[in-house]
Amino acid sequence: MRKKLVVGNWKMHGNRAANADLLAGIVSAGPLPCDAAVCVPFVYVADTAVSLAASSLRWGAQDVSAHEQGAYTGEVSAAMLRELGCRYAIVGHSERRAYHGESDALVADKAKIALGHGITPIVCVGETLEQREAGQTEAVVKRQLSAVIHALAHCAGEMVVAYEPVWAIGTGRTASPEQAQAVHAVLRAQLRAATAQADSMKILYGGSVKPDNAAQLLAQADIDGGLIGGAALKAADFVAICRAAT
Ligand code: 13P
Repeated sequence: MRKKLVVGNWKMHGNRAANADLLAGIVSAGPLPCDAAVCVPFVYVADTAVSLAASSLRWGAQDVSAHEQGAYTGEVSAAMLRELGCRYAIVGHSERRAYHGESDALVADKAKIALGHGITPIVCVGETLEQREAGQTEAVVKRQLSAVIHALAHCAGEMVVAYEPVWAIGTGRTASPEQAQAVHAVLRAQLRAATAQADSMKILYGGSVKPDNAAQLLAQADIDGGLIGGAALKAADFVAICRAAT
């Protein structure tokens, strides 16, 4: 049985005081029944590392540079993140693909460099509404995942995958448990063809996960946790989702 993983993606929200309250609220809820992490804006990485030093709650970044180091103004490297104790880096979030033009190849490079520095990449895949309605969901997510599988080669089993249908992100419109499970099963089959570790890999679902729909989604056979946006900004909601994961 795969242990569930619930990851909060704070996106570009928060400030030092609000973050401190949020983390204190999660930690004070006591031991969680699943693995849990928060992915914070770069500027709060150092604060978060200090706040969570003695906690089982892990933390990660929302992106990472595809380059080792050098003249890349504004970028943050995997080595820098790892130096502070970073465990996860989200790569290929649909917001970065859409607003920053990130290609499958760039996402694959980011996943590879993260893993090379001991950071688990959380690789996001997902179709737009237009693609779903055109019957392209399976082809789109397979193409996105395939680029990363090839880049990671024999280490592919070490990534976490997140299926986030673009039409369900921040819209309140969640994929039904059956819709989500169907895509997760496709991704699991693709992973099985690539790595012997596929059955122990985590595939998270993201897109309008809330305390009231989390249990049903996370009960699906191939849904191993959640990547949570809006609901991760409230300690009580994040904790409730973690509790729904068992
Ligand atoms: P919401 O939970 O706000 O829909 O965001 C999902 C997401 O994009 C997490 O990465």
